[in-house]
Amino acid sequence: MSNQPFQHGMTPHLTHDEIAREHAVRAMRFHLYGQVSKGTRAYFGNVVAPEFEKAQKRKLEDRAEVRKVMEGKTYTKFHLSLQRSVQEVMWNTVVENVERQLPELNQRAKDCERNLGSLKLDPTFEIPRYVANIDIHCMPGGYGNEGDLADSVAAGAIYDRGISMYQQAAEGELGLSVIRYLQQNFPTFKPAKILDMGCTVGMSTVRYAETFPDAEIHAIDVAAPCLRYGHARAESKGQAVHFSQQNAECTNFADNTFDLVVSTILAHETSTHAWHNIIKESYRVLKPGGVMVHADLPQFVDVDVYTQFLFGNETKFNNEPFWSTFRTIDLKKAMLDAGFADDKCFLDLAERHDPGGFRNTKVSTAARTHGGKTPPAFGWGVQVGLK
Ligand SMILES: C[S@@+](CC[C@H](N)C(=O)[O-])C[C@H]1O[C@@H](n2cnc3c(N)ncnc32)[C@H](O)[C@@H]1O
Repeated sequence: MSNQPFQHGMTPHLTHDEIAREHAVRAMRFHLYGQVSKGTRAYFGNVVAPEFEKAQKRKLEDRAEVRKVMEGKTYTKFHLSLQRSVQEVMWNTVVENVERQLPELNQRAKDCERNLGSLKLDPTFEIPRYVANIDIHCMPGGYGNEGDLADSVAAGAIYDRGISMYQQAAEGELGLSVIRYLQQNFPTFKPAKILDMGCTVGMSTVRYAETFPDAEIHAIDVAAPCLRYGHARAESKGQAVHFSQQNAECTNFADNTFDLVVSTILAHETSTHAWHNIIKESYRVLKPGGVMVHADLPQFVDVDVYTQFLFGNETKFNNEPFWSTFRTIDLKKAMLDAGFADDKCFLDLAERHDPGGFRNTKVSTAARTHGGKTPPAFGWGVQVGLK
C-alpha cells in the first residue's frame, strides 16, 4: 500500500485485489495513450489525410472534416470505444472501493480535523445545473451527489482515486503547472491571499499552500462532498486551507480581497454564461496589482485539426457538454468585458508539469496569442489578467 500514488490521511484503504485492479486500469490507460492513441494519429497523418488531399486537392480544414473522414474507420472505432471502456472501468473500480468503506471514510474526515484551516458548507446552497445535472466525464453521481449517508465524502474520494489513475503525472500537477508559469513570468510575485476557484478536493490548492506557506489560502467549490474530503485531506497533510461552498460566479468575498485568483480545469465544466460571470467575479475580488490565472486545455485555434477532433470526442463520448464550446469562446473579450485593461490581460500557453511526458498533446506553432514566445511542447491554455 505504501507505494500507491497520491497517499494522504484520507486515502481509502485498498485490498491486494483493489491495488491490482488500479494497476490494471493505469496500464490500460498507459497503453491507450502511449500506443493506441499514437497509432490513430499516425494512421490519420500517414494514410487518411494524404488520401483526402490526393482526392480533394486540398488539406482537411477543420475538426468537423477530420471527424467525417475518421469516425467510420475501424481503427478509430476501436480507439474511441476502448477509451470509453477504460473510463467506465476506472470509475467502477473506485466506486466499488469507496462504497464498501464509506461510513469509515466519512468518520475519518471528521477525525482529520486539526483546525489548521476551516470548512464552511451551506445547506441551502443550490448547485448550478451545469454541475448538478450531469455525471461529468462519466463519473457516477458527479461532484455533488450526497447519497444516503450524512456528511458524505464519497464524491471526493471517488474523484481523488479516479485522478490517481487518470493522471499519471505528479499529484496536483495542474497547480504545479500554474505555479511554474507564475515563477517563470512573475518571479518576484509573492501573493499574501490566494483564491482557488473550483478546487474539488484541493489537489492543486495544497500545492499553492506548500509553495506560498505564508499566504492565506481560500478554496471554493459548489460540491459539499468534495469540500469535506478536500478539507480533511489538506488537514491530514498539515496544510491550512479555508474551504467554503460557494459559486465562483458570485462569491461572498469583498471587493479587492486577493493577490492571486486561480482555477485549474474549472472553465470547461461550466457554461458560456457562467464563465463570463466567473471572469467578472475574479476581477471584482482581485486586489489592484493582483494576478488572475485560469488554466484549462488550449483553445481550438492553439492546436492542430487532429487534436481538435480528439478534444471534440470528450463532448461526444465522455459527458463533457461544454468541453468543445469553451474552446471557441473569445476569452480575451471576456476579460475586457470584465474590466481588465487591454494591455493587462492576455492568453498564453503554459508548460505542463509532466516529468513523465505521459500525455503530450502537440500545440500548433500557428498559435497566435502567446506574445511571440515559442509554444511549449505541451501547453495548458492560460487566461491571465492583471488588475
Ligand atoms: C475538474 S474539477 C477541478 C479540479 C481542480 N481544480 C484541481 O486542480 O484538482 C472542476 C470543479 O469545479 C467545480 N465547479 C464547477 N462550477 C463551479 C462554480 N461555478 N463555482 C465553483 N466551483 C465550480 C466542480 O464542482 C468541480 O469540483
